[in-house]
Amino acid sequence: MTILVTGGAGFIGSNFVLDWLKTSDEPVVTLDALTYAGNLENLAALKNDARHTFVKGDICDRALVDQLLNQHRPRALVHFAAESHVDRSISGPGAFMRTNIEGTYTLLEAARAHWSGLSEEDKAAWRFHHVSTDEVYGSLTPEAAPFSETNTYEPNSPYSASKAASDHLVRAWHHTYGLPVVTTNCSNNYGPFHFPEKLIPLMIVNALAGKALPIYGDGKNVRDWLYVTDHASAIRAVLKGGRVGETYNIGGWNEMTNLDIVHTVCALLDELRPDAAGSYTRLITYVKDRPGHDRRYAIDARKVERELGWRPAETFATGIRKTVQWYLDNPEWVARVQSGAYRDWVTQQYQA
Ligand code: NAD
Ligand code: DAU
Repeated sequence: MTILVTGGAGFIGSNFVLDWLKTSDEPVVTLDALTYAGNLENLAALKNDARHTFVKGDICDRALVDQLLNQHRPRALVHFAAESHVDRSISGPGAFMRTNIEGTYTLLEAARAHWSGLSEEDKAAWRFHHVSTDEVYGSLTPEAAPFSETNTYEPNSPYSASKAASDHLVRAWHHTYGLPVVTTNCSNNYGPFHFPEKLIPLMIVNALAGKALPIYGDGKNVRDWLYVTDHASAIRAVLKGGRVGETYNIGGWNEMTNLDIVHTVCALLDELRPDAAGSYTRLITYVKDRPGHDRRYAIDARKVERELGWRPAETFATGIRKTVQWYLDNPEWVARVQSGAYRDWVTQQYQA
């Protein structure tokens, strides 16, 4: 038995692969194009691990995906690969349309061809697990109920529109062709290996460098935050026991404003790495708002708990402490990401 993971060198994908091989011996084949967001250093712990195979390649490359399915005959495909940063989708939506929509379409078609040739027993057990986001549901007012799986799709950014499109493709491939799919829509993740363009890691690395902590708008936008290994355990639970054709919302039951997040990060840094110049909160700077900035996301994660018994293991207090500590303990990772040296890792480590 083997699983094929796309986007496994990114933030969530790498945490998922590392966790998977900690909790099981089932081999993993990782397919990742190593865009700016892909960092093989995240998977360095697996360099000599025979259970892990890394393949550099594009999910839009049908011939490559066909070859990997034929060669490794995975029992499941777990699809993380995506362009994931909302701000980048605003300045350059093209890559999002290509990877998130065309890439998902390519994987679905390759998966369908492969799956059609399996025995009835293997067909029933096969899974296409699509990893998606809560952003497809749009923005909530302060008093609205959290997103449930039956909320209408109202994506507002090029990123969320491309993810919504991919969710619809996955749904259609199940309804039309019977492909056994499951989709998870998750809230904001945080934790180790988070690329420092996203709120939490950006605030940590900027604070440590004495740089401004840019808050978009009034800082009162609300997100639900989930520690990344809890997302990994939720995906494992859905892959194992989720009902085919269903979607499951995954969240941390932890709604916070961006300002509260940044104050929490500053307080932890004040404790763990005090700065003679004073509290890191002095670096908080209000900047121009993100265009079309969604005001509030919140997740109703009762379905996954009711059906599969999943709940997050970390509280925000425990998860954010681990996260800040990880960035303090891994300055070389941060430095190589910031200098761009992480992109040489494939050459150094895999072709030497
Ligand atoms: P990321 O940007 O950190 O990683 C994306 C990975 O995909 C990178 O390794 C990149 O190299 C790879 N990739 C991009 N284009 C590719 C292509 N054409 N072919 C092959 N590989 C390609 O993203 P992330 O934050 O780890 O998110 C992973 C998935 O989870 C995405 O689908 C995202 O929409 C979803 N998601 C993210 C969050 C979050 O908070 N980060 C929350 C919910 C859902
Ligand atoms: O909700 C899930 C989504 O969470 C995922 O699908 C996306 O892939 C992931 O990037 C994330 O999207 P957000 O836009 O919520 O995350 P980001 O870290 O970019 O921003 C979080 C909030 O912080 C948002 O309200 C914008 C704000 N922000 C962000 C940055 C980078 C700032 O105020 N300042 C910043 O510098």
